[in-house]
Amino acid sequence: MVASEAVPFAKTGGLADVIGALPRALAGLGHEVDVVMPRYRGIEAGSPERVITVALGNLMSDARCYVAAGERVRTIFIDHPGYFDRDHLYGANGHDYVDNPERFAFLCQAALNWAAESSTPYDVVHAHDWQAGLVPVLHERMAESSPGLDRLATVFTIHNLAYQGVFDASWLPYLGLGWGLMRVDAMEYWGRVSYLKAGVVFSQLITTVSPRYAQEIQTPELGFGFDGILRERGSDLIGILNGIDYDQWDPERDSNIPRPYHANDLDGKEAAKRELLERYRLPASAEALARPVVGLISRMVDQKGFDLLADIADELPRLGATVVLLGSGERRYEDLWLALATRHPDRVAVHIGFDERLAHLIEAGADLFLMPSRFEPCGLNQMYSLRYGTVPLVRATGGLADTVQNFDAASGSGTGFTFDEYSPQALLGTLRWALGVFIDRRTWRRMQQAGMRQDHSWAASARRYVEVYERAMASRVGV
Ligand code: ADP
Ligand code: GLC
Repeated sequence: MVASEAVPFAKTGGLADVIGALPRALAGLGHEVDVVMPRYRGIEAGSPERVITVALGNLMSDARCYVAAGERVRTIFIDHPGYFDRDHLYGANGHDYVDNPERFAFLCQAALNWAAESSTPYDVVHAHDWQAGLVPVLHERMAESSPGLDRLATVFTIHNLAYQGVFDASWLPYLGLGWGLMRVDAMEYWGRVSYLKAGVVFSQLITTVSPRYAQEIQTPELGFGFDGILRERGSDLIGILNGIDYDQWDPERDSNIPRPYHANDLDGKEAAKRELLERYRLPASAEALARPVVGLISRMVDQKGFDLLADIADELPRLGATVVLLGSGERRYEDLWLALATRHPDRVAVHIGFDERLAHLIEAGADLFLMPSRFEPCGLNQMYSLRYGTVPLVRATGGLADTVQNFDAASGSGTGFTFDEYSPQALLGTLRWALGVFIDRRTWRRMQQAGMRQDHSWAASARRYVEVYERAMASRVGV
């Protein structure tokens, strides 16, 4: 697998969780998996092994490969301090690093060189998101002259179609890719080039991270200009729901929460709620503990519904709940939430930043988890919430629609609350509805337990990836 982030080494979002977990799930099915990623600043794992020489156009440089061996899963870190020894993964102060096209072209080429020089040939290369989008096209160029690569099948996964890796076309000659790729059936995208498009066009099979999103991205509304090519490749596009890693996210064995708990004994959840309120310096009186806590953990961007939340911001403190937020992102949203917390210090609390441990405590300590996304390829937090007995309230889109069953008052069934229309009124109405149901403790408990008992482990999804790999390998034979 080639990817730009992986738990536990580097993480900005759900991609890292997936790359941390899927390879191990595949290993559990008997496969051997290597993950290739950059050796960013701060990564200490691995020991230096081979040096590989990577050529991109006239740029020629060496990378030392560090290898960290786990059980059946190895991680290969591409060390090139000029590209990767930086403060952040993709950019600083709201701006992407200007040489990102070069940095990630380097990652892709280095991964293929590593594969070509390996003594045991690989069967499949599985590239993720635009950062690894050049893998299939670079592979196509190398395959003829590299005996180790000619049978390598290529699979590309879209984790988020909104990030397309679009750059000035002049990068093509600079990186030795050639103007030939400046075609509408190759990498051209509105006069520029897209790395994501390279992944979509040149890979044998394409997957994305939920069945619903696989359908949605074939429509103009959520296809971000890619719906045409995705429809064209519709029979090669497969939606596979992400799993969650229960080694990391399970209230029965989570070292980040005060006491373990499970579906039949939720006392530990109450303890987590108290600790959460204290962490946020909110009142933790009996009265405060009785009030529902609404949690949010998110990148603070439009995708995640922060514009809707901004529209109802003044209503939030008046709902009879306490709201806790952990996130970072667009400055205007950070400022808005900080101001809201200043105005309502006993009802709204905000932590701007990235804090893995606190994320676990919120999942455990909150009663309701909010994900009003405009679109959501899969989403992991709603699945963590289900596992932690924290009822999710989500917009019915992408993976959120595939994983949360709306509450039905008549039968009492459902695992959460969903709304369809992307509007502040719909969000607010659903919030009020959910907080009304919260008062009915028995119904709420039933919903919590229904969510906690669901199985969202990786095993089933990993099997589906194996089917995809096998299909790609079968069609590679004879190529
Ligand atoms: P996306 O990848 O689009 O951001 P996902 O729901 O797939 O959304 O995954 C987000 C992951 O990042 C989750 O594991 C979530 O807990 C984590 N996360 C997001 N923001 C923060 C934050 N500020 N601090 C800690 N973890 C965060
Ligand atoms: C992307 C998506 C998110 C998904 C994650 C992992 O970041 O925004 O919905 O869960 O990738 O696949």
